[in-house]
Amino acid sequence: MYFGLILDVEDKKIKTLREQLKNKISEEDIRKIMKSYEQIGEIIILTIPKEYQELKDFIGKSFYDSFGCQTVLEKGSVSGEFRVPYYKKIIGGGFVTIHKENGILYKIDLSKVMFSSGNIAERIRMGQVSLPDEVIIDMFSGIGYFTLPLSKYGRSRVWALEKNPDSYNLLLENIHLNKLVDRVTPINTDCLDFNPDFKADRIIMGYFSDDEKFLLKALDMIKDGGVIHYHNTMPEKSEPSFKKNIEKILSNKGRTLEPLYYRKIKKYSPGVWHVVFDFKVH
Ligand SMILES: C[S@@+](CC[C@H](N)C(=O)[O-])C[C@H]1O[C@@H](n2cnc3c(N)ncnc32)[C@H](O)[C@@H]1O
Repeated sequence: MYFGLILDVEDKKIKTLREQLKNKISEEDIRKIMKSYEQIGEIIILTIPKEYQELKDFIGKSFYDSFGCQTVLEKGSVSGEFRVPYYKKIIGGGFVTIHKENGILYKIDLSKVMFSSGNIAERIRMGQVSLPDEVIIDMFSGIGYFTLPLSKYGRSRVWALEKNPDSYNLLLENIHLNKLVDRVTPINTDCLDFNPDFKADRIIMGYFSDDEKFLLKALDMIKDGGVIHYHNTMPEKSEPSFKKNIEKILSNKGRTLEPLYYRKIKKYSPGVWHVVFDFKVH
């Protein structure tokens, strides 16, 4: 009954939106626009194709009025070491919101840090992979995308490393919001400068870089038989080389890997996938 009520409210919003857009946009184009929007907390993010640019303000206002949201943004690029997004405001207020997903609260400031809706399945999976009291290092924790599910649902101990002070400050807030202070140790550092006096059961490498130094650092910190969750981007056609590169780096250090899991997470750019590869290190 309650769930039904939520669906009714959602249906009503979508119906109102369609009615508004219909005044200026064809049914086919409405379908395309409806497919491309994402909602993060109280903020709607639109991808507006070139051919609809002159209707941007009209489309933005239609979403704003129908959804009663705080802000409507136009999706831009994400760039640099800190993965800072560039979203243009179309209408509304600020860039700070709290997004609830899988029972976890993520406070986010979209003028400073990214939130990738497409990684939802991976965030949920991270809540299922670890055991209570496992020792985990999240080398690129951001605002806690993976740290929060690992510590909340896995009940694991997570060392969350983050170099960008803006992301780190949100990480601190998110640890408190989700009442995980006892299980997460946040550190505002370059992960290469972290020198723990323990070895981890599990390491999360949620940052795209082919630079060997990050994998070598993870090898220094993982225990024998520990698991690494390695994220990267992969052109569709070169998948077989992916595992070989990692194997080569491990073998130079006298280590071997045991593959556990491989999955395409989402399309990153045309012809390029964001992938995750889990492997045990021996
Ligand atoms: C791409 S974001 C994390 C994305 C996230 N895994 C997701 O699923 O949406 C990567 C994070 O790594 C941080 N970072 C980059 N280089 C770092 C380093 N050397 N040490 C620690 N954090 C770093 C960035 O500031 C950013 O917050």
